[in-house]
Amino acid sequence: MSDKSFQPKILAFLCKWCSYAAADLAGVNRLSYPPNITAIKIPCTGKMNPEYIIQAFRQGADGVWISGCHPGTCHYTSGNLIARRRFAVFKNLLEYIGIEPQRVRLSWVGSSEAHRFQEIAQDIVDSITEIGPARKMVKNIIPQSYQGVRKI
Ligand code: FES
Repeated sequence: MSDKSFQPKILAFLCKWCSYAAADLAGVNRLSYPPNITAIKIPCTGKMNPEYIIQAFRQGADGVWISGCHPGTCHYTSGNLIARRRFAVFKNLLEYIGIEPQRVRLSWVGSSEAHRFQEIAQDIVDSITEIGPARKMVKNIIPQSYQGVRKI
């Protein structure tokens, strides 16, 4: 499905040590990337809670991008490796709750890789545009105690 007027909303959770810095560098170098991407700075991909992804979709995101330091360069040693393992398991859950796993992307982008950041950003927007809008999540699978805690 491809709707030419569809502009996907992508929420990007970027590690402040690398991918967020790469986004900054892209800006400094005037490398444009799609405005569909809203960047959120996180301390490390290892701090990325899968609940944030669910909340993003519940609040209207069409795609989620998580990007961190390359393996072996995480400032907290293994945060990105933990994120990678968590993400592999989480993809199965996404399918189970009816979200196409292609809507969520994990990548590694170093702080000096502005061009790589730009390319991945464009690729994510292109692939989500191709998939189309995310279905609205009507079922509330977040426990009552978590609701209203965070608005993304
Ligand atoms: Fe960047 Fe851990 S500090 S992914």
